[in-house]
Amino acid sequence: MSPSDPPVAAEATLRSALEELDLAAPENVGRLLLDFQQMSEYVNDPLIIERAEGVRYWDVRGKEYLDGISGIYVVNVGHRNPRVVAAIKQQLDTLSFAPPLHAANPAAIRLASLLAEIAPGDLKTVKLLSGGSEATEVAIKLSLQFHRQTGNPAKYKIISRYKGYHGATLGALGATGTSRRRKVFEPLLPNFLRVHPPHCYRCPYEKTYPDCEVYCARTVEQTIEMEDPSTVAAVIVEPITNTGGIITPPPEYFPILRRVCDRHNVLLIFDEVITGFGRTGEMFAAQTFQTVPDLICAGKGMGSGYGPLAAVLVSNRVAAAFWGPQEAELEFAHGHTFGGNPLSAAAGVASILEILERGLLDNCRRMGAYLRQKLEALAPYRIVGEVRGRGLMLGVELVRNPDTREPFPPAWNVGGRIAKAALRHGLIIRADQDWFALAPPLIVTPEDIDEMLVRLEAAIEEVMAAPPVRTPVWSNERR
Ligand SMILES: Cc1ncc(COP(=O)(O)O)c(C=O)c1O
Repeated sequence: MSPSDPPVAAEATLRSALEELDLAAPENVGRLLLDFQQMSEYVNDPLIIERAEGVRYWDVRGKEYLDGISGIYVVNVGHRNPRVVAAIKQQLDTLSFAPPLHAANPAAIRLASLLAEIAPGDLKTVKLLSGGSEATEVAIKLSLQFHRQTGNPAKYKIISRYKGYHGATLGALGATGTSRRRKVFEPLLPNFLRVHPPHCYRCPYEKTYPDCEVYCARTVEQTIEMEDPSTVAAVIVEPITNTGGIITPPPEYFPILRRVCDRHNVLLIFDEVITGFGRTGEMFAAQTFQTVPDLICAGKGMGSGYGPLAAVLVSNRVAAAFWGPQEAELEFAHGHTFGGNPLSAAAGVASILEILERGLLDNCRRMGAYLRQKLEALAPYRIVGEVRGRGLMLGVELVRNPDTREPFPPAWNVGGRIAKAALRHGLIIRADQDWFALAPPLIVTPEDIDEMLVRLEAAIEEVMAAPPVRTPVWSNERR
């Protein structure tokens, strides 16, 4: 300790002070910088989650919440899953860290083998990481280095989509198409271009599916050609886009995009950070949409949140460009201290086996259909524009008039108000001003869904009865 350091309380005093800390006191909880949160607001009524089980959380005051969004599209096998907890405890007794700079570890090798087994197509090589933003950064860097090492060093442009989200770090943010997230940090890297997403309910090209012949996919080819194909490295897309309100493409979209990319030697990257590991009713959305990309970014549900875990799955063609004699210097020029962490890898193996052996993909499809029915049954409230998504990733676009698709004024923040009211009623969902989403753990039961809907409807009724919405049209029809 240097003379300029502040005095530190004696060790025993420090320990007992921490044990007795008033967790909800603004001066304590306000030390944290939570994600995208105005902390001065948050500290007034902080949600502090203490424990969880299955599809439920409890906060430090003992209040129960139904987890309608799997943490944040993470806890696919549910909270406190015994198989995953046991696997981590067992791993903890053997090895908790090994340096990925120069060593593999058994848990990481097992996880990579399991991923190669379940991955679509020939995506058999794995870069293990700790978070989704790392995964999208890695996919972008792999694309750039791949082209450099296969005779196309001028390919540096990355095409992504408006409304998409690919992470918070600078490269991932460059690919992100949500200006709200980007504007504080602009200008960003010069590599990125954006195209419109396949948003049939509000087609950016003012076309109608299927007469449009999926123009939004075909027009990506025009962008590549206008930019000069010899400069375009990759297209990165979420199979289903969360941030724009669970934007779900028509079935032809990805097969067309695959052919466009193939024609111009452009890599197709699926950001499956949300959709991977069973969320859409298949292990990967690549299977749901019957398209094999060159790279898959995974995260969130990969380890169900029991340890920070993410990955990029790499096709044989791309991986081959990084394999050669030492002196050729072809190795992937990228690394992270915690990639392939044994505890996280053990959690990943256990979580994936749980999905497979407990039939959670099948449960996801069945419960997804049930939840969709329930969300569609909200129609008499006359605020449901469209219910969309796949499996247990479902979103509701909120509108002022479902007949004309007239949106609510953004300033009313109807989605945000519903989410806040739902929280008061003990249900956690994801929302933005004009949509909300439900994506419960894949273990969810019909009874859990029924209870979620009771709380959701209570929230909707509360928001609709209060200014500025105050639209009582729904009430007689509904009851
Ligand atoms: C589609 C998608 N990609 C990437 C990310 C970034 O993941 P992380 O927050 O783990 O860095 C997210 C996070 O929400 C995401 O939804």
